[in-house]
Amino acid sequence: MRPIQMVDLKQQYAKIKKDIDTGIQEVIDNAAFINGKAVTDFSASLSRYLDVKHVIPCANGTDALQIAMMAMDLQPGDEVITPSFTYIATTEVIALLRLQPVFVEVDAKTFCIDPVAVEKAITPKTKLIVPVHMFGQAVNMEAIMDIARRHNIYVLEDNAQAIGSPFTFSDGTTKKTGAIGHIGTTSFFPSKNLGCYGDGGAIFTNDDALATRLKMIANHGQSKRYYHDVVGCNSRLDSIQAAVLNAKLQHLDAYADARRAVADYYDKAFANHPKITTPFRAPYSKHVFHQYTLLLEGVDRDGLIAFLASHGIPSMIYYPVPAHRQKMFEAFGGSAYDLKTTDWLTERVISLPMHTELEDEQLRFITNKVLEFIN
Ligand SMILES: Cc1ncc(COP(=O)(O)O)c(C=O)c1O
Repeated sequence: MRPIQMVDLKQQYAKIKKDIDTGIQEVIDNAAFINGKAVTDFSASLSRYLDVKHVIPCANGTDALQIAMMAMDLQPGDEVITPSFTYIATTEVIALLRLQPVFVEVDAKTFCIDPVAVEKAITPKTKLIVPVHMFGQAVNMEAIMDIARRHNIYVLEDNAQAIGSPFTFSDGTTKKTGAIGHIGTTSFFPSKNLGCYGDGGAIFTNDDALATRLKMIANHGQSKRYYHDVVGCNSRLDSIQAAVLNAKLQHLDAYADARRAVADYYDKAFANHPKITTPFRAPYSKHVFHQYTLLLEGVDRDGLIAFLASHGIPSMIYYPVPAHRQKMFEAFGGSAYDLKTTDWLTERVISLPMHTELEDEQLRFITNKVLEFIN
């Protein structure tokens, strides 16, 4: 049996080596390292894939969030509604821009921001909602967009963990996550569902005026070379990463299928176990399983992690400390929050290996060892 990893990028690369190597070699041959053809080709392909008008590539998913918030012309102290149960980047950029994070609860089943909690948290100072499609499960975007419309608030989808997931509205129309809110962002961190071989990110919008601002802000606030209209930053997706992404985008749907097949295997093995809750798949979207995250009840989680590690099985807790409990947010009133579901989930989650190259032999071994410890 091959060694088990949380994410196995070596095996994935082996299957698409020719395309990746050719793409990278082309960039080198043309010495088009910055904003080359690979970048424009990738932006166009991703725009088609997501069915979104504008794709603005940038340096990473954190920059993407920051640039998006800068483009919305928010004022210091404006309130931004965010889940606390998320990767730190979502919330960190809010604080970085001197906006006020307002942490709200997630739904215990989907791990995603709870629309009811969002609506309750709205005040006259609320300017933005940042739903995060956690672990590959889409937020209930129909409910979020409805709230945003009624209160005239922006929506910024943090789609770092769910790229490629289709969301179906009650009228039967389908849109990809990231292309539903006013702006969407993603990360191309190597372990993401669409990951490059370094850092990368992108911003999406259907709004022409926002797109113009986003492009300017990502490029030193320039409207024309050496003419800087607004304060911006320097955030680019480099051409070599774009070449990798061009090759991998063609496989994104197949990768999601492979991830779902792994999830099916795990689901079946853990079905109806009294101490294990398998991931919920909301009917309005197709889960793309960035992570496969179980909830454990009455299990020594640290003991399980150590037991699995002793058998060569990695596992992770995403995330061990929710944002509102991070030291970083003490100055923003983080400790004043009482988010019971978030805390409850944080104590119970465990993520198992999830990637496109897992084999039945490995899955059998993983599930047997989990059950051996828990039973
Ligand atoms: C939900 C979420 N938001 C934002 C990011 C930030 O992306 P990056 O690491 O590319 O800055 C990540 C990825 O790590 C993420 O998972």
